[in-house]
Amino acid sequence: MNARGRGFSRRRFVTGALTAGAAVGAGAIGGCSADAPPNSAAPSAPRFVPFDGTTQVGITLVPPPARALMAAFSLQVADRAGLGTLFGELTSEIRGLMSGRPPEVRDDAYPPVDSGLLGETPPPDDLSVVVSVGASLFDDRFGLADRLPPELVTMPFLANDRLDPERSHGDLLLSFEAGHSDTLQFALRQLMRRTRGEMVLKWMTEGYTRGAGTGNAGGTPRNLLGFKDGTANPDARDGELMDRYVWVGADDGHPEWAVGGSYQAVRIIRMFVEFWDRTQLAEQEALFGRYKLSGAPLGMEQEYDDPRFDDDPDGQRISLDAHIRRANPRTPESDESRMLRRGFSYSRGFDRAGRLDQGLAFISYQRSLQKAFLAVQARLKGERLEEYVLPEGGGFFFALPGVPEPGRFLGDALVA
Ligand code: HEM
Repeated sequence: MNARGRGFSRRRFVTGALTAGAAVGAGAIGGCSADAPPNSAAPSAPRFVPFDGTTQVGITLVPPPARALMAAFSLQVADRAGLGTLFGELTSEIRGLMSGRPPEVRDDAYPPVDSGLLGETPPPDDLSVVVSVGASLFDDRFGLADRLPPELVTMPFLANDRLDPERSHGDLLLSFEAGHSDTLQFALRQLMRRTRGEMVLKWMTEGYTRGAGTGNAGGTPRNLLGFKDGTANPDARDGELMDRYVWVGADDGHPEWAVGGSYQAVRIIRMFVEFWDRTQLAEQEALFGRYKLSGAPLGMEQEYDDPRFDDDPDGQRISLDAHIRRANPRTPESDESRMLRRGFSYSRGFDRAGRLDQGLAFISYQRSLQKAFLAVQARLKGERLEEYVLPEGGGFFFALPGVPEPGRFLGDALVA
């Protein structure tokens, strides 16, 4: 962790995130340096995360809270007006949840307005909810075909996939993060309760990240293969970087409503952890191109050191096949394929063969699916990691732009 990261309070970050949003389409603004460690903001007391902003705040919140949940839904809405009403309801409920609005108390002859999971008044717990839409929302139901973000498609089968239709795609995706699981369950149930006539749950995945805020001395969370995951992320506090790699901008040839949104790639990737645990450490490290404990690139000292591929053109130190080298060869051409990864680990018990059912809910946000996620995925095709993992679900979504001012709602410009 560097000095900049150590002194960074959450309040300052949130301000930064909102300012970053304000910069969308307006060009670059100053911020933290591009090489500041991305997950190293010092933990501070849990708080309510401000909802309003030109981008959805949960996408860039640093450090990521410890718990996460994704829930995908099919919509049962008759027409575009109904869709607008639904987006309005979702916005109102999310705004209330994120700000800790106390539930209405009513006569005990009625069911209570909330589940009571969090007691009388929900405590601050860094809760954020991000709303995204899938390509299916733009079919003929709502007359939105001409408003489709041009790169949004139903996620195809990619290298090594065994996509389970019951854990894939959806009209709408809610991505929750908070400090504790009960906060996630509370928020999910409040949102489902309010929209139960219009939203049918299709699949969900819950998990955790052990971030800087939860006592992991190393700062960057580790995935279930034991490696630090997120090291080379662009710094989510840097508005200029987020404009460059994450937010759709005004000059990107997208429908106007989509400016300030972001393409979200979700991959539910199972890991064969028993097999992994029998693999030599040297092979594990060679496969990623980083040391397991420190997270430093092979041959380097510190986690955030540059892997210096230019010094190693034949892959003597870091194999040409290593995950980090394929994912980001650090050439001028590969710069535009950078993305913001914000995944979490999941554990779902075990399968019928007695193997642990664990993995990574990979999530990345990017300005262009083609230039970022799909370009990286194409470079990773055939990598050695494929032997240890199996993508089983997920989908491509588009995270809606934020709500810049009270009185507006998520997706209002899409359905207008
Ligand atoms: C279970 C599957 C995966 C695991 C366990 C995994 C793990 C890792 C690890 C340990 C790192 C190095 C530390 C870091 O910079 O975060 C890394 C880097 C990275 N991964 Fe993955 N990853 C997986 C899948 C993917 C997928 C599907 C993509 C995108 C298609 C991807 C894209 C990247 C990128 C862009 C980097 C940063 C490379 C750099 O700039 O140095 N990863 N991953």
